[in-house]
Amino acid sequence: MLALYTGRAQAVDMNAFRNLNRPVAQAFDKEIIKVEKFVITGGKPLHGEVTISGAKNAAVGILPATILAADVCVIENLPDISDVAVSLKILSTLGAQVKMLNRNTYEIDTTHLTGTNVPDDLSRQMRASYYFLGALLSRFGRAQVAMPGGCNLGPRPIDQHLKVFSALGAEDSVDYGMITVRAKELNGAHIFFDKVSVGATMNGMLSAVMAKGQTILENCAKEPHVVDLANFLNMCGADVRGAGTDVIKVRGVEKLHGCTYSIIPDQIEAGSYMVAAATGGDVLIKNVTPKHLEPITAKLRRAGAEVEEFDDAVRVRRTGDILPLKINTMPHPGFPTDMQPLMGVLLSVAKGTSTVTESVWDNRFRYVDELRKMGASVQVDGQVAVFEGVEKLSPAPLRALDLRAGAAMVVAALMADGTSEIEEIGHIERGYENIVEKLRGLGADISKVDRVPAALEQAL
Ligand code: EPZ
Repeated sequence: MLALYTGRAQAVDMNAFRNLNRPVAQAFDKEIIKVEKFVITGGKPLHGEVTISGAKNAAVGILPATILAADVCVIENLPDISDVAVSLKILSTLGAQVKMLNRNTYEIDTTHLTGTNVPDDLSRQMRASYYFLGALLSRFGRAQVAMPGGCNLGPRPIDQHLKVFSALGAEDSVDYGMITVRAKELNGAHIFFDKVSVGATMNGMLSAVMAKGQTILENCAKEPHVVDLANFLNMCGADVRGAGTDVIKVRGVEKLHGCTYSIIPDQIEAGSYMVAAATGGDVLIKNVTPKHLEPITAKLRRAGAEVEEFDDAVRVRRTGDILPLKINTMPHPGFPTDMQPLMGVLLSVAKGTSTVTESVWDNRFRYVDELRKMGASVQVDGQVAVFEGVEKLSPAPLRALDLRAGAAMVVAALMADGTSEIEEIGHIERGYENIVEKLRGLGADISKVDRVPAALEQAL
């Protein structure tokens, strides 16, 4: 039940309310992303332990991949976030039986899944809906998905995804924002990606696993989630080799089968808590793969933080000054673009001048305007931002402009002495499980406030 508390401290069951007053309920649904907010009183160093959830960007590839098994898969360590909820909803809409075994484990039976059209409203809710194109094409020779939504980071073309589908023998068309791909049969091919793309590499594997013959994908993305998808497919009986290197070879097999698979820990969620700890404090970050965190660990150490690595945990501490850095975002194993806004926040209070170059996305400095409201001194020129460290950040009313920009604002608010409010937190909840509880467990003063919109308040 989604329960909200009005100004009169009256609990409202939104499901019951929807049946009574549909127009207001629909207006409310549209507005919900704007009305919830985080209230954070900063200036308290973080101490304690936090456990990292499963990787969003692996989960949103592996869930569509269960379609290929045409069988029962049990997926463990799924993060409880809205992008996963949307992926599960798409699967059940297409005809899969989806059963929750516990909060982070789902049994998914795709044996009788027959749908090939992903509903418009669901596919627009997240970027990763494009993985349903590769998975459905591979199993049924047909798929239709609306142009994907997700964070606004500048142009997000999918030409490299379509390049793979076409090389394997599929035709595509785009009409009224709907992408359709069709193929009588898929045949292995040799593809060189013009651009290193996580999504195109993963869609390449999804579409090639049951194609006839061998597919060679060159200039591939090497992110941990690319490897995780390959491992899942291989557990289902696929023959995918080389994931994690530039060249992936896929030998097509007749059919796949189900399996039980546990998703890797989320590299960026872990990195986000590492930065939060590096603002001042001492935090043990558990359930991580330290190897995946190396690019982040290296930069944090240069910035003056102490990072201690264990088998499946890292401890981050900082007591001295934050030192300025030069950062250039790159595909893995370079410094991840998804960590760039978080590092930007840290560098805004470094002792000196830092330079951050964003080499992956065209439009990933929008958070800087929010940071300036807090007194940060940042000049952006195209793809380069120059941070002149200031003494401290001041609290401010803030917006979560996208997922990682939103996480960066949470860290900024934790650093500022005083109370900040962050709006549009629906973006943050797309990718961070239980962020309020996890931060509270570290001693942060953060709460989530549901403000009931005026229209709803009047109608009650
Ligand atoms: C994935 O997006 C992640 N999303 C993003 O994380 C992440 O920022 C990005 O990879 C880079 O690491 C998911 O995994 C769901 P790309 P993706 O294809 O796959 C260009 C987050 O915060 N490009 O690797 O969509 C593109 O414009 C999100 O968790 C083409 O030109 O990214 C970009 O400049 C945000 N043609 C670059 O490649 C294409 O066909 C990398 O994009 C595809 C991409």
